[in-house]
Amino acid sequence: MKITRVGVVGCGLMGSGIAEVAARYGYQVTVREVSSEILQQGLARIESSMQRGLQRGKFSAPEHEAVRSRITGTTKLADLAHSELVIEAVVENMELKKIVFRELDQLCPPQTVFASNTSSLSITEMASVLAHPTRLMGMHFFNPVPVMKLVELVRGLRTSEDTMTVGRGFAQSLGKTVVTCKDWPGFIVNLLLVPFLLDAVRALELGVAAKEDIDTGVTLGLAHPMGPLTLLDYVGLDTTYFIAEAMFEETKDARYAAPPLLKQMVLAGFHGRKSGRGFYEYKK
Ligand code: CAA
Ligand code: NAD
Repeated sequence: MKITRVGVVGCGLMGSGIAEVAARYGYQVTVREVSSEILQQGLARIESSMQRGLQRGKFSAPEHEAVRSRITGTTKLADLAHSELVIEAVVENMELKKIVFRELDQLCPPQTVFASNTSSLSITEMASVLAHPTRLMGMHFFNPVPVMKLVELVRGLRTSEDTMTVGRGFAQSLGKTVVTCKDWPGFIVNLLLVPFLLDAVRALELGVAAKEDIDTGVTLGLAHPMGPLTLLDYVGLDTTYFIAEAMFEETKDARYAAPPLLKQMVLAGFHGRKSGRGFYEYKK
């Protein structure tokens, strides 16, 4: 199946990155948000990332213009009906994702392939609301999408081989390396990353060390590009909390239980870099 048009649902941190990268690699992209205001913020995020790429010489000014012209923003889900592939990147919430896929299932012809960028939720459960459950797979990109080389492809119990083949071909066409896994809470990377991030919050809660020392310990002691508390701010504390809750709900494994400090910070509106404050403060 040849893909030329890609629909992206959600233009937050991840949806904007996915839309940008798909357009950079020649796809016609339509990205849907819930309101014009949030859509404009998402498109502005794409523009600022593109400016960064331009300044770093990743592409030329005419290429930049061409990429921009391949991205269309909308608030109507029906505008994604002609895409051959639709990637969902809305908030990490099963009920919300089911609503999106139920609607897409009605709007798109049966051959349209669906992917969810979920970090942790079950693809099999999401597919249960579809008349054609074989067309849905997990396609997990990493943040920041233009820079991170990995895509995890997740095979739900009913995902067809054809769907996986389309997903693999698409991700590879974006220059990504693909790893494949079964439908398991957190897949490969978050199965390992989430307990580590939560343990960093627990270390801070316990007063083991100051946040800067926890982060410096990990960047210099383990050669990670970011310390865990900085990475939590980068990913979003709200998103990490939703991921941890989903993994805990499925497994009842205490390693995924969100520490009270994380929950309190989310409720206080300290969502990390995107809200201007998380473990650290950021200029808007
Ligand atoms: N477009 C194109 N290229 C870009 C870019 C953009 N928007 N932003 C950065 N780059 C490029 C830069 O040009 C640079 O490349 P060169 O060295 O070839 O010039 C490279 O990326 C690094 O950029 P910077 O030097 O500006 O930034 P940095 O060195 O401070 O790195 C970072 C920034 C890539 C975010 C790095 O800190 C990092 O890798 N952090 C960890 C990120 C991570 O772990 N992500 C996974 C999160 S978990 C997840 O995503 C899953 C989930 O479900 C929650
Ligand atoms: P985000 O909060 O930055 O963005 C989510 C966006 O979805 C918001 O802008 C919201 O307005 C929009 N939205 C909600 N309902 C919608 C609907 N019905 N139609 C269109 N848009 C809708 O969150 P994010 O960090 O971009 O995460 C999105 C998904 O990607 C989640 O499933 C998350 O787990 C996953 N993910 C996140 C990261 C990360 O590092 N943040 C990495 C990989 C995967």
